[in-house]
Amino acid sequence: MAEIGKDINKAKQLLQEGQLVAIPTETVYGLAANALNARAVTQIFKAKNRPEFDPLIIHVPSIDSVLRYAENFPAIARKLAEAFWPGPLTILLERKKIIPDLVTSGLATVGIRCPDHPLTRELLNELDFPLAAPSANPFGYISPTTPAHVHEQLGSKISYILDGGPCEVGIESTIVGFESGQGIVLRRGGLKIEDIERVIGKVNLAINASSNPKAPGQLHSHYAPRKKLLIGDLAVLTKEHAHRNPGVLAFQQDYKFHFQEILSHSGDIDEAARNLFSALRKLDNSPCDFIIAEYVPDTGLGKAINDRLKRAAH
Ligand code: TXA
Ligand code: MG
Repeated sequence: MAEIGKDINKAKQLLQEGQLVAIPTETVYGLAANALNARAVTQIFKAKNRPEFDPLIIHVPSIDSVLRYAENFPAIARKLAEAFWPGPLTILLERKKIIPDLVTSGLATVGIRCPDHPLTRELLNELDFPLAAPSANPFGYISPTTPAHVHEQLGSKISYILDGGPCEVGIESTIVGFESGQGIVLRRGGLKIEDIERVIGKVNLAINASSNPKAPGQLHSHYAPRKKLLIGDLAVLTKEHAHRNPGVLAFQQDYKFHFQEILSHSGDIDEAARNLFSALRKLDNSPCDFIIAEYVPDTGLGKAINDRLKRAAH
């Protein structure tokens, strides 16, 4: 079983040997391997049971390393990175051949992110390769925001989980690509679109699912608990299902149910984002029979939360 600890040297050594290590970031925990080593990267797909058509993003220590892995760094992309890195932003750039096909699933672009977590930044600084890392959950399931979440599901498949405490943001990075000098958001996430637009102007949204998604974070069903999840007006749903055994996922209000998670007692959206995945997980692991939930206010990170709720319910 995986050991949980704070030993950066151990993490470094395992990664250099081509092994997998779970790493903390400000968004969610990642399942990391040497992105330049296709054999190591294969282990990520195996451990997550992830289809190989779903590309991985790579994590770098700084803006300076981007051009080692990308053919070019357009001004608009650089502006975004300068404004928000380290942080919950992944940018899609034309990939250099040094990045194995497997990482990008053969796409011409590679997703690059500089995460904002002191342990992982220190680790990245010590490595001479970037880390490919998807969220450290089985494919399609709820993303992990604590070392215990990772251990619960991938503990038997990896040897080390670097413990950086609970994730501060709680939902994945926002993914931005670029076409004809304009930004295109492929996944809503921890960086708000309003903030992006303040730096590079109006962006296009390409976040809706299709049968051939450009980013499988766009798949209809994702982030999903094992239990059935219904979303609606909780004032109604709690009455309708009162005689059954639901778990309640509420934004702010206390519905006085035995199995209940409240995302933010004070109605703070950022706090709700931070608590979302662990609340879903707690209900999924509780003895409730199914989960009823409500959307959060559709402002700021609320849009990214609601996007995940919708996919989790699909
Ligand atoms: O916050 C995050 O981004 C976390 C932490 C660990 O950094 N990582 C993460 O990775 O969420 P993952 O693999 O769970 O989600 C990355 C998404 C996937 O939906 C993938 O399809 C998409 O990014 N993606 C990766 N490379 C892409 C590319 N070149 N073009 C379009 N989409 C891409
Ligand atoms: Mg994921």
